[in-house]
Amino acid sequence: MTFFDHTETSVSREEEQGQTLLRQALVRRRAGLAERLRQAGVQKSVLLFAGHAPSRNYPDNVYEFRASSHFLYFAGLPIEGAALLLEGARATLFVKRPTEADALWHGEAASPDALKAQTAVDSVRFLDELEAAVRAAGAPIEVPFSQKARSAALSAEEQAVADSVIALRLVQDEHAVWELRRAASVTVRAHQAGMAATSKGTRISVVRAAMEREILAANFQNAYGSIVTTHGEVLHTHDRSGICGAQDLLLADVGAETDLGFAADVTRTWPVSGRFSPSQRTLYDLVLSAQQAAIAKVAPGVRYRDVHFAACRVLLAGLKDVGLFVGEIDGLLERGAHALFFPHGIGHLFGLDVHDMEDLGDRAGYAPGRTRSEQFGLCYLRLDRDLAPGNAVTIEPGLYFVPAILNSERLLAPFRADVRPDRLAAFSDVRGIRIEDDVLVTKTGCEVLTRGLGKTAAEVEAMVGAASSAS
Ligand code: GLY
Ligand code: MN
Ligand code: MN
Repeated sequence: MTFFDHTETSVSREEEQGQTLLRQALVRRRAGLAERLRQAGVQKSVLLFAGHAPSRNYPDNVYEFRASSHFLYFAGLPIEGAALLLEGARATLFVKRPTEADALWHGEAASPDALKAQTAVDSVRFLDELEAAVRAAGAPIEVPFSQKARSAALSAEEQAVADSVIALRLVQDEHAVWELRRAASVTVRAHQAGMAATSKGTRISVVRAAMEREILAANFQNAYGSIVTTHGEVLHTHDRSGICGAQDLLLADVGAETDLGFAADVTRTWPVSGRFSPSQRTLYDLVLSAQQAAIAKVAPGVRYRDVHFAACRVLLAGLKDVGLFVGEIDGLLERGAHALFFPHGIGHLFGLDVHDMEDLGDRAGYAPGRTRSEQFGLCYLRLDRDLAPGNAVTIEPGLYFVPAILNSERLLAPFRADVRPDRLAAFSDVRGIRIEDDVLVTKTGCEVLTRGLGKTAAEVEAMVGAASSAS
């Protein structure tokens, strides 16, 4: 006898469209992997694990579950503990056999039939049957490879699997783009809410909460630990203490991840007062010009490192205009002088991971035959491939006054004749500025997925404090 059926839900037309795209994509992704492995002469099957939620101080107190991205790519749904066995194009999903206790503590599990329909696999079985299935399939290649991949210790067959997965995931398919748009749209709202919530004396944690509220309200989660700070020069700070000072710039690098795991990664920098000071405005406009120059370059066939250099060139020219550098731009660019103020790369791949596939080290980010530079700044460039339609990349130049760089004898020594430290005081109300958008490479150029979020100085100023002035 059934007392209540809590499983019945109404599905909007948009959700239905997303589910259809997912099923179609999963079938194509799995067939694509099978075909690539066949071409590479790999006979073995592939076993992907979703993973488990990590626990805190004791096993029952768990953090929110986040499935392995490789599993999500081929299985579609974040099913804790699940495994996906791929034997050629045949897919079997293994899920936990639900117990009475599971139903009591965690609710009814989706039925095998429902999971089969959602993920378009050939069959759904229980995990207690996995061992026998694996034995029957021979010794499958297990994914994720994690540490092994980063240390380049993969067997030839594992390398073939890794390279096939990379080739597939590098090109965001229709379903992935659908999800990236969903992540982008919620992230745009989060930044608008953050700007609206900002005013002199507001706690930084309150601004961060206003941003993350939008993400949670959409039933998404953060794609990475939010960076909301008046110390933009600390590149990945997660400190949320402190208040917004009247003269401060607030840098917010916050992105949503959809319920199916696809990320957005966006940064805006805004003046707490709602008005950039003249010095802040000069450097803000310079970062924006660099970002626009880099985005204008994004197109199929373009080497991503050249997109990086396009931004560096604009930054160097601007820094020379304001007297921070003397000398000739080409030489400064070649020697990496810009890294004194722009020490990181122009961006990275994003998709199911915010830094997509970095669990595989530089195998995903760097084309075969290319390796990281050892030059300061360029060594942090995470991507050096020729761009192709379907690639999703961030474009995120910045300018920072980092004490650890500007007080470093070692880093400054090669540039003593080029840099003018006496000009630094003119920018004492700037610590760090970054502008980051999410860009999809198209057949003819690119599309900025996060274009809904204004970024000119005037647009940003108009959004700051809108919550208090509207009330
Ligand atoms: N959110 C980290 C980054 O921009 O790469
Ligand atoms: Mn970011
Ligand atoms: Mn980024």
